[in-house]
Amino acid sequence: MKANIVLLPGDGVGPEIVAEAAKALKAVATRFGHDFEMTEHPVGGAAHDLCGDCLPDATLAACKAADAVLLGAVGGPKWDALPPEKRPERRALLTLRSELGLFANLRPAKVWDALKGASPLKDEIVARGIDILIVRELTGGAYFGEKSRSADRKSAYDVTPYSAHEIERVARIAFEAARRRHGRAIAPRPGRAVAPQPGRAVAPRPPKVTSVDKANVLETSRLWRETVTALHAAEYADVELEHMYVDNAAMQLVRDPARFDVILTENMFGDILSDEASQITGSIGMLPSASLGTAKGGLYEPIHGSAPDIAGKGIANPLATILSAALMLRHAFGLAAEADAVEQAVSDVLASGVRTADIASPSGVPSAVSTSEMGDAIQAALSGS
Ligand code: IPM
Ligand code: MG
Repeated sequence: MKANIVLLPGDGVGPEIVAEAAKALKAVATRFGHDFEMTEHPVGGAAHDLCGDCLPDATLAACKAADAVLLGAVGGPKWDALPPEKRPERRALLTLRSELGLFANLRPAKVWDALKGASPLKDEIVARGIDILIVRELTGGAYFGEKSRSADRKSAYDVTPYSAHEIERVARIAFEAARRRHGRAIAPRPGRAVAPQPGRAVAPRPPKVTSVDKANVLETSRLWRETVTALHAAEYADVELEHMYVDNAAMQLVRDPARFDVILTENMFGDILSDEASQITGSIGMLPSASLGTAKGGLYEPIHGSAPDIAGKGIANPLATILSAALMLRHAFGLAAEADAVEQAVSDVLASGVRTADIASPSGVPSAVSTSEMGDAIQAALSGS
């Protein structure tokens, strides 16, 4: 197939990791006979330095026209003093998410066989299995609600609005993902090919969605719970649904992560729980994400930030970005075999002992490889060389 992919390297480690994901995509194109046209556009602080805007019009237009977008990371201390609405996080990332209508953010967190030892949890907890999909609402809540600071700058608020419509559409994605993870066929949503995931073991339990809220305190959470319950009863009774308060969910994630299958939650809770989930799987450098919505294609990015402390050193782990490219192949293009091949390459390379510093053994043997050496290893695995 022919696809037009926009690359947004951004700031910090962004350019280093996106370059490695682009290599992986090229290897996939060669091996499977696809034509991926990849064009880079400035975003984040890098774009601000170039033209005074973290999200130049041309970049936004290119993203809207693309078949899919791959983003590295944005932000860093250099741009922290910009006014809030001009900072890379708000101006670039949040504007991209809302302008592209990306209301659902899929963050799979699993322990790779070769990395079981990297989890900080006890072996017996890890042995029960960690394979969670966090479905985070991405264009609502406090991130996008009205915000204000008083004239004396001594008080402030961030409103957390949610409508039933916003809750229902992301809940639908979570229920459908739960079915798909357990090998049940679903009708693809109009306008997007979402292939089932072959090769995935059918779990003995029915698919389960844990909807996370704070309904004992927040009105938006009560609406969240009511809406999810009604949608479940009307259309997804075959999927198990449980509700959990966010504080309890944070605790259960470290106490017994195997109890989770799909976690559905609002924007801010999803941001926090996905960082926690990344740590229990070993490293935040391993977690990819797919942001889907009304626009075609979607946006794919690692869940980690720009890591300014290690930027330019060539030591960042590119696997979260490479795995984000796999999610792109699967969700944007419906290329399941190609996505499986990338995930298999990651698994094989890890099994062969190749490690970046964040996932290296504490003994330092074998020594950690650089960002580009990890990318080369993935490329070689994909090319069968
Ligand atoms: C993430 C990040 C962003 C978020 C930041 C950089 C605004 O933490 O994608 O998880 O909070 O959504
Ligand atoms: Mg985050």
